Order: sequence, then structure tokens, then C-alpha cells
Amino acid sequence: MLENAKRLIAPSLRSEVPPFIVMDVMAAAAKIEAAGGRVIHMEVGQPAASAPSAALDAARAALSGSYLGYTEALGMPSLRQRIARHYDEQYGFPIDPGRIIVTTGSSGGFILAFLALFEAGDRVALANPGYPPYRHILSALGCEPVLIQTSAETRWAMTPDALLAEHRRKPLKGVLVASPANPTGTMMQTAALRALIDAAEAEGISVISDEIYHGLDYAFAAETAARLSPNATVVNSFSKYFCMTGWRVGWLVAPEILVRPIERLQQNLAISVPTLSQIAAAAAFDGREEMENVKHGYEENRRILLEGLPKIGFDRFLPVDGAFYLYADVSRFTGDSIDFARRMLEEAGVATTPGLDFDPLHGREFLRFSYAGSADHMREAVVKIGEWIGRR
Ligand SMILES: Cc1ncc(COP(=O)(O)O)c(C=O)c1O
Repeated sequence: MLENAKRLIAPSLRSEVPPFIVMDVMAAAAKIEAAGGRVIHMEVGQPAASAPSAALDAARAALSGSYLGYTEALGMPSLRQRIARHYDEQYGFPIDPGRIIVTTGSSGGFILAFLALFEAGDRVALANPGYPPYRHILSALGCEPVLIQTSAETRWAMTPDALLAEHRRKPLKGVLVASPANPTGTMMQTAALRALIDAAEAEGISVISDEIYHGLDYAFAAETAARLSPNATVVNSFSKYFCMTGWRVGWLVAPEILVRPIERLQQNLAISVPTLSQIAAAAAFDGREEMENVKHGYEENRRILLEGLPKIGFDRFLPVDGAFYLYADVSRFTGDSIDFARRMLEEAGVATTPGLDFDPLHGREFLRFSYAGSADHMREAVVKIGEWIGRR
């Protein structure tokens, strides 16, 4: 049977994207839990809190009343207007609701933005380390992800010089920036983001800005690329700040010229984003106070880790400016972060993500801790990891 299938079906080369290693860690943790063991989850990048109660109430009401048909491909007009208002409230910067496109999480936004901006074969620059699906979505679409190594000297952000050096070596068509970034948690100040956007656009390189962790900033306020250039494509989501990962709803702020092409793509690829999720998302903005409390929880978790980890030997990490990640250099303990994370899970009961997921070049020497859980778990994790390091 399998042999027959193999003769008939050959998976396409473009489907050969690497796995997301964090999923493997999650599966190993689930196995331990199924056997009665206990795991503190610091691997997964999703909030432990639930969606704002206003969003849940709106969804319940919609379920009992409305007919949940398709919406317009660009999204419900009321949600697009509400998102546009968010820019005024959050950044003091008005945006035309006509430029807002509702997407299936930011993941759906990347597919639409990449398809609308790039041809197969186009080269797109990404900061290394970075979020793995950027690379994998681009290669599945036939584009070439080009990793630009970042370092401590530039606060682990991509610089105009590094971008232009790569562009001169072989022309780039796009660049993706993220601030706060995953896995590093580092952020770019407005001047640095502006310099990168200006340098890129002067060379005809399109800018995509992943702003999914906006709102979760602890060191300074995150700047939106939408304010800095009408030609930047902004990707955002209700997944992180609004704790709505499973609702699969996000948005784009698209340059005017891309709105219609993206509308046509969305009509064909998805028709529209789930209506129930759009209704809940519009109401989520009324839950900001609740979400600020969740954010204060992350701030406390961050404080616990910043104080506790250095005491147990994890004293080298990247600037922990935003999101809910701490990216630690573990080279003094290991040259194989996958094995290190596996043993930490099995022997200390703490799940983390090996850096190799985010950085094919140096990831064996890094580990990502997610602090999206509870403060008690953070304290317990520091104790358990400390004891485990002591026993090794
Ligand atoms: C940097 C970054 N961008 C995008 C996403 C995708 O999120 P979603 O599709 O849930 O909006 C994630 C998820 O972890 C992320 O970390």
C-alpha cells in the first residue's frame, strides 16, 4: 500500500520545510505528563491567560443569536474600523480603515503579504536568530530567505549597513523586521527602525514589520512601522497581547496599493477569517484593562528570571526588552542545546526551547525561556533548574 502510494505520490520539494522544534519539545512534555509526571512549561510561546472577558461575552452572544456566515474578504467593516481606531489610541497616529485587512492570525498575514509582494525566487532578508516560520513560509512559497546575522554590538537587531552589504552582494526584494522580536525579546528604538526602513526603501527593498508583540514592551514603547512609512506592510495579531492564540485572528496594515491584490488573494485562499473570531476580536479592545493586568504578570515573571537565572549560572542573555522571552547563552554548559533541553525536561521537569529552532548557525549554544506562565511556576523553575545544574 505504502509502496504504491510512494510510486504515485511524491511530496513536492517546497513542502520540505523543517519542523518547528518547539512542537517536538511540547510532544515530549505531553508524554511525561501522560505518564503522571509534572512539567513546568517554558517552551511554548503562548499566554497562559484566557481571552478578555469582553471577547468571550461577545462570542457567546454571537453564538446564540447571529447567523455566522462569511464576512467580506478584507474583514468585518466594524472590526477594521476598530483596529484603525486602535492606532489612534495606542500610537496617536490615525490610519485609514481601508488599509486594514483581517487575517487568520499573523501567520495568515505573512502568507498574504509575501504573495502580494514577492515573486518566486525573490530574496528576503531576515534577522538571525528569528522566528522559524518566516524562513519556512518564504521557502514554501519559492522565495529565498536570507539570514542576516545580528550581534550584541547592534543589540541583536538588523542594521542598515548589514542589510545594504547583503543587498550589494546579491539584490534583495524584501526585509522583515520584528520588534519586540522572538526568540530574543529585543526591540529597536524608533531611530534604529526608521534608519532601517529608510535604507531599505531607498534601495527598493519592501519592508514587512511583524508587530505581534506590541503592547508587551517593558524597556521602552514599541514603534509601529506604519507611522514611519506608508509603504511598510505591518503584520499584527490578537494572539499575544490579547491572549487569543486559538481564535486565529490577526491583521495587516497594508500599503494602499496592496489592498486590492491582497483582497483577491484572501477571497481565493480563505474566503474570509472565521466570523466568530472577528466578533470576539472587535470586543477584545474593551478588555485592555484586563490585558494590562496580564502584562503586569509578565513583568513580574521577567523580574523573577532576571534575578534568579544569573544566580544559577545563566548570566548571559540578550536584552529582555519585550514579548515574553528570555534568550540565554548556555555555551558554558553545552554545545548541544537540543540535548541540554531534553535533559532539563526529563531530569528537572522544565520544558524550554533549544535555540536551534531559531538560529541554524549558533542555536546550539542558546536556549529560549518563555515567561508567559505564572509567577509561581517561574520561581519553581529557577529552583528546579538550579538544583539540576548542581547535580550535573
Ligand atoms: C514573532 C511571531 N510572529 C508571528 C507568530 C504567529 O502568531 P499567530 O499566527 O498566532 O498570530 C508568532 C507566534 O508565536 C511569533 O512568535
